[in-house]
Parts: sequence; structure tokens; C-alpha cells
Amino acid sequence: MVLNVKTQTDNYNIILQRGAINRVAEFYDTAKKALIVTDSGVPFEYAKTVSAQFSNSIIKVIPQGEKSKCFDVYKDLLEALCENEFSRSDCVVAVGGGVVGDLSGFCASTYMRGIDFVNIPTTVLSQVDSSIGGKTAIDFSGYKNIVGAFYPPKVVIIDSDVLKTLPQRHINNGLVESIKMAAACDKDLFEFMENNDLYENVDKVIEGSLRIKKYIVEEDEKEQGLRKVLNFGHTAAHAIETATGLGDLLHGECVAIGMLAFSSPSVRARLTSLLKKYNLPTEFDFVGDTILEALRHDKKSAGDGVNVVYVNEIGSFEFKFLDFNQLDDAVKGAYLK
Ligand code: GLY
Repeated sequence: MVLNVKTQTDNYNIILQRGAINRVAEFYDTAKKALIVTDSGVPFEYAKTVSAQFSNSIIKVIPQGEKSKCFDVYKDLLEALCENEFSRSDCVVAVGGGVVGDLSGFCASTYMRGIDFVNIPTTVLSQVDSSIGGKTAIDFSGYKNIVGAFYPPKVVIIDSDVLKTLPQRHINNGLVESIKMAAACDKDLFEFMENNDLYENVDKVIEGSLRIKKYIVEEDEKEQGLRKVLNFGHTAAHAIETATGLGDLLHGECVAIGMLAFSSPSVRARLTSLLKKYNLPTEFDFVGDTILEALRHDKKSAGDGVNVVYVNEIGSFEFKFLDFNQLDDAVKGAYLK
């Protein structure tokens, strides 16, 4: 399947095909010189497979984890581009998850005022969400994604065969973003998810998510309005991450719990049973007011309340302002046993 995404400056294709990682030349000019960026958690064979298809390429392996989305690693990549005399007609290729994609995309967006960026996402989370829509960034001075650019890739190549090496927990972690999009935007996809095994239907889940995301980013590329729907579950997730200091939970797992606070009781019940099927957490050990405190200080808070994405019925959403009393009720209703 090929989906074309229109942006304010360009169009790009998303390729969703098994085995596509072996056929990069069908989708992009592999005569260009390529800096291939991957991380230490991604099987090296994927970067090698991609590299072998370019006539001239170098591979940079960065340490796995969010900590790599920093100025120092960004600087290392820029140095590699300079030292290897990359020109404006060369490219940066990401082979990895969201961290690799965000960092490589930002590097491509700034080197010589912008060179080609190709994204080959290798996790469910990046295949269904972060590789689409042109967001690139690094973390800086304690703030997540504070330095970055909207910089569309030239092509996104998604090969679900690479997921076979992804640990089960990370597959489930990525599925949360698909469940989130279906819950807020696509009743049919959500019902499909309730009635079918997502592992056996991973291509359909990816395709359904990509169609939703394409619609959203074409309507609102720079997140002025509609694109904020993708924050469903994230407001409470960030508060949980702050309240627990991240603890043992992955980001998608926090989003899973986070969606439950801003859903109607019937949506919460359906979400809970779907999330449980994939061993995703649905409970939060509510201790004192820590999560409420974190929510009150969320960057989306506005005076005496917080703007949230609220799902009242599967397949639709509203942007809602909750004052602090309503926020307390929502959080306690979802988590206090
Ligand atoms: N992952 C959220 C967005 O692309 O806007």
C-alpha cells in the first residue's frame, strides 16, 4: 500500500509493504550519499541491509533511549556529515524508532538548511505514529522536544517484517497509539480491534492508523487545532510520568492509563478490556495528589484548569476545558478504587 501525504511545502509517500526494507531503491534514489542513523537497540542487520543498497553510505549507531535525543548526539551527527563532506544533494536515513527518527529528521532539517530525510521506522510506535507528520526535535535544557522543526521526510518506508525482532512489550506499547487514534477518530477500526487479534492483523492496524494520521496532518500540519487530538491520553500520561518519575512504565503504557481519565464510563470500560488483552496497564496506584499536582502544572493548563481531549463516544472526541474540580473528579473516577 502507498499513501501520499500532502504538506504545505511538498508531498511524500508512505510505503507499507512487507520486505520493503530490501527494496529501498524502488522508493528513493540510492545513488545519493547517505548517513544512516540507527541505535544500539535496533538489530544492526537492518541498518546494514539499507546501507548495502546505497552506492555510498556510512552508518552511525547512537545509544538506545530518549537520552540520545540531545544536543551532543545531534552535534555528533552534524560532525559526521561535515567530516564526510555531505552536500546539499545527499541524505540522512533513519532506521529505528521515534528517538532515531526525531533526531535524524532534525539533523537533516538543519544541515545546509535542509537535506533529504528518509524514515524507515522499526517499532510499532514509530510505524503507526511518530514517523508521519514531519515532527522532528531534540530535548534541550530539561524540556522535551523543545528544539525542532516541522520537516517532512522524502519517503517513509514501513516494513512490518522488522517487527519480528521487537520485544512483545514494545509491540504492545506501540499498539496504544493505534488504539488511541481509533478510540478518538475511527469507530470501525476500534470495533475491528475489539473483535480481532491485533498481532495477526498488524498490517491492517498500521494501515488504519496511517489513514487517520494522514487525514489529521493534512488538515493541520502545524498543530494549530485538530492535530491536538493525538494528545488523547498524553496529558494524563505526562502527569503520570512526572508523578512516578517514569518508574517502570513505557510511554505508551502511560498513555494507556492516561486515556482512561478523560473518557466516559462506557468508553473507559471498552478501552480497559481492549488494553487488558494486550497486557497493557489500566490501573494507576493513586497516591495522594501527585498526579493532580502534575496535571495542574501541565503546560496545557490555563489558569484554573486544563484543556484535554475527551472521548465521550468511541470514534469521536471533543476538546474540553476541565476546571480543577472537574479534573479531580475525572482522575479520581478513573483511578481511585
Ligand atoms: N505524535 C503526535 C503528533 O504527531 O502530532
